[in-house]
Amino acid sequence: MDKTWWKEAVVYQVYWRSFLDSDGDGYGDLEGVIQKLDYIKSLGVDVIWLNPCFESPDVDNGYDISDYCAVMPKAGTMETFQRLIEEIHARDMKMIMDLVVNHTSDQHPWFVESRSSQDNPKRDWYIWRNEPNNWRSYFSPSTWEYDEKTGQYYFHSFAVEQPDLNWKNPEVREEIYRIMKFWLDRGIDGFRMDAIAILAKQDGFPDAENPEDISYLGNNPGIHEYLQEMNEKVLQHYDLLTVGELAFVKAEEGPLYVDRERKELHTLFHFEVCDYMENWDMLQFKSIQKRWYESLWGRGWNSQFLNNHDHTRLVTRFGNVSTYREESAKCFATMLHTLPGTPYIYQGEEIGMTGVRFDSIEDYNDIAMKNKYKEEIGKRRDPQTVFEELLPLARDNSRTPMQWDANKNAGFTEGRPWININPNYKEINVEEALQDQNSIYYFYKKLIELRKQNQVMIYGTYEPVLEDDEEIYAYYREDGQEKWLVILNISEEDAERDWSQFVSLEDAELLLGNYDLPRSNTLAPYEARIYRL
Ligand code: GLC
Repeated sequence: MDKTWWKEAVVYQVYWRSFLDSDGDGYGDLEGVIQKLDYIKSLGVDVIWLNPCFESPDVDNGYDISDYCAVMPKAGTMETFQRLIEEIHARDMKMIMDLVVNHTSDQHPWFVESRSSQDNPKRDWYIWRNEPNNWRSYFSPSTWEYDEKTGQYYFHSFAVEQPDLNWKNPEVREEIYRIMKFWLDRGIDGFRMDAIAILAKQDGFPDAENPEDISYLGNNPGIHEYLQEMNEKVLQHYDLLTVGELAFVKAEEGPLYVDRERKELHTLFHFEVCDYMENWDMLQFKSIQKRWYESLWGRGWNSQFLNNHDHTRLVTRFGNVSTYREESAKCFATMLHTLPGTPYIYQGEEIGMTGVRFDSIEDYNDIAMKNKYKEEIGKRRDPQTVFEELLPLARDNSRTPMQWDANKNAGFTEGRPWININPNYKEINVEEALQDQNSIYYFYKKLIELRKQNQVMIYGTYEPVLEDDEEIYAYYREDGQEKWLVILNISEEDAERDWSQFVSLEDAELLLGNYDLPRSNTLAPYEARIYRL
């Protein structure tokens, strides 16, 4: 297997608007990120993924861009951006940015022109039709919005304010490639490609049999031609990390995007866990890992994550925040950093931040949640019931500000935060974590160090054992020089197993564990152990 820096890397995701506010306007900003780079570096991470900070009316927190080559004032200035890259590079880290090119904002000058008349030269930069079909969009009941002025409907996979670009049009593609080079030439080290699997649309927009299953939006014929062209014209000329957000893509289709022979992307996020496994389901998770390993190994590269700015924090969703917050956070961390693929840490994950529960819909900001709430209320459903239904997976669960210390607003801002702070910041914060040698933070640090020193964690093969076990997840990693066994008890009960056929507990070297217990056949709740055999 060929070795590259982005396979060996650990990536830390910075959702800057909730990271650190340096100027008191209530929003985190790029200057705040600069101030905390030493903290990020102290974990041992190699790459920062920065969420979009381009000019935007901000209806979808920066994923609705109105100028691709300008920095939004909330985030800072181009000068600060440039300094951010320099400071990251000076610490021997790299930075990737979101590339959001499936859609723009409806305030983007291209769309303003496009909607101005049917014969405007930019009309064809977006997708216009006389009649809608029956598709649903991610954030609203229809993918089509009627435009009074020109009497046609435009297409939007997400919010009404996020019209989809028409990738069939070569002028659009050329313009996007130009924008990509603009940022690469400013020194960024790659892209997290937003919603990239949905660039190509189904020809003719046929009605769907079941419009609720919105998988018709993505993974359509034509996508690979676009990605290959993008690679040929832009990506191959730089030393990059490209990671595609591939909704709807199944394991057997993964290699079409990341098989290195095909010259498209380096690695991917698939959503078989975050979109389709609402609560922890061990057998389902094992089967997902196995399928993706079998389809990608030796051909392309996977990524490992259990939460991000769109998905509820992992301890809340998959672990146990009441009794075993620390243990479950460390257990999942062990898993994410020892499974094949590049691990991603979402800011705050390293201190075990939890999802939030605010009292009223007014406390929430996310367009996906708010639109869904309105839609359901519109059907005369009970507002409280709808609210409760939306809480567990609401995107704002993971968007509350970073908890730095026990001071006012968790040390995030001197002003009024754009979204409320999770009330548990007095107990869960970075300052606490740094003072406690047993904290989740130090555990992440050790895992990352281990990865730096042991290539088996990166390039070793993956071989699961006890595959039908619903509490224990155990697997070997092996690279010809070393063989490791990872054992995880992902449950709230003790789990006793006979390990003798897999490992001699007395002789094997315990590299890392999250409990200080005598070695025994019984694993404590959420116990994780990594053995070198
Ligand atoms: C991606 C982003 C999400 C955004 C959507 C539309 O899924 O991660 O936050 O709302 O794309 O751009």
